[in-house]
Amino acid sequence: MVQRDFRASALTPLQVVASVFLYLEAALLLGLSAYPAVRLWALVSDLVPRGNPWRLLILTMAAVLGYFIFGLTQIAVLPAARWLTFSLGTPVGHFAFLSFPAWRWASYNALTLMFRFSFLNWVRLTPFLNLFHRLMGMKIGKRVQINTAVVGDQNLISIGDDTVIGGDVTLVAHVAERGKLVTAPVRIGRNVTVGIMAVILPGCEIGDGAVIAAGAVLSKGAKVGPGEIWAGVPARRIGRKSESRRPPGPPVSAIFP
Ligand SMILES: CC(C)(COP(=O)(O)OP(=O)(O)OC[C@H]1O[C@@H](n2cnc3c(N)ncnc32)[C@H](O)[C@@H]1OP(=O)(O)O)[C@@H](O)C(=O)NCCC(=O)NCCS
Repeated sequence: MVQRDFRASALTPLQVVASVFLYLEAALLLGLSAYPAVRLWALVSDLVPRGNPWRLLILTMAAVLGYFIFGLTQIAVLPAARWLTFSLGTPVGHFAFLSFPAWRWASYNALTLMFRFSFLNWVRLTPFLNLFHRLMGMKIGKRVQINTAVVGDQNLISIGDDTVIGGDVTLVAHVAERGKLVTAPVRIGRNVTVGIMAVILPGCEIGDGAVIAAGAVLSKGAKVGPGEIWAGVPARRIGRKSESRRPPGPPVSAIFP
């Protein structure tokens, strides 16, 4: 009981210290990522003489170009920092929040948060995002499309070929539950569609060709069979992909002429 009280009272000051530490870490890692862009900007500044009427516009455009260079540079810098911060990935199990495994989880995911808060939305649905997740430890097959920024614990997630992760899906391998951090691997098969804004929680397994409906919440540890369609909150099996439930609608060209 005494130990529990101590932990509860230590949490808020620790959160403050951890946040300040995160800002310092971000200053180092995002600063390093911004360095090539700032060098480019300084070069452009030297090249365009002060009297040039276009100077301000050119420098502004160089700054915006620099932003994109900054974002793409993070794809190399942040995954490399996994080794510098001794946080290669999220560990599997049930952990107290004040424990070394929980620290590893937080430290590892902080790297993804830095990318998410500063640039990630620009690389949704591009191979740059798949590359970032691969370098963070995710197993991603060929032609996978990921249209969400809300992905964490990549080292515990695998996605098969031709799968689509729809807009604003939450795809994580951890939850906070009854005062514990609970983590488990997530396996998504080939040719799966995870619908817009669905939530995939730790321990979920989704078979090849399955469909998770838009807005579905797949409970922790749910097992979706191949070709099955799951929908709702919590998600339940509503059918199979081969089963036709209604006549085909009008062609897309009729809806969007
Ligand atoms: C689940 C889904 C595949 C079903 O589409 P469908 O096969 O055409 O089926 P229907 O629209 O006829 O719906 C069948 C039943 O499921 C229900 N349903 C459909 N979508 C649902 C959803 N998102 N949540 C809960 N129930 C849903 C319908 O109400 C219907 O119920 P009923 O049989 O009791 O009337 C589709 O609604 C969906 O969510 N697709 C995801 C698309 C997506 O987000 N892609 C991501 C990239 S853009």
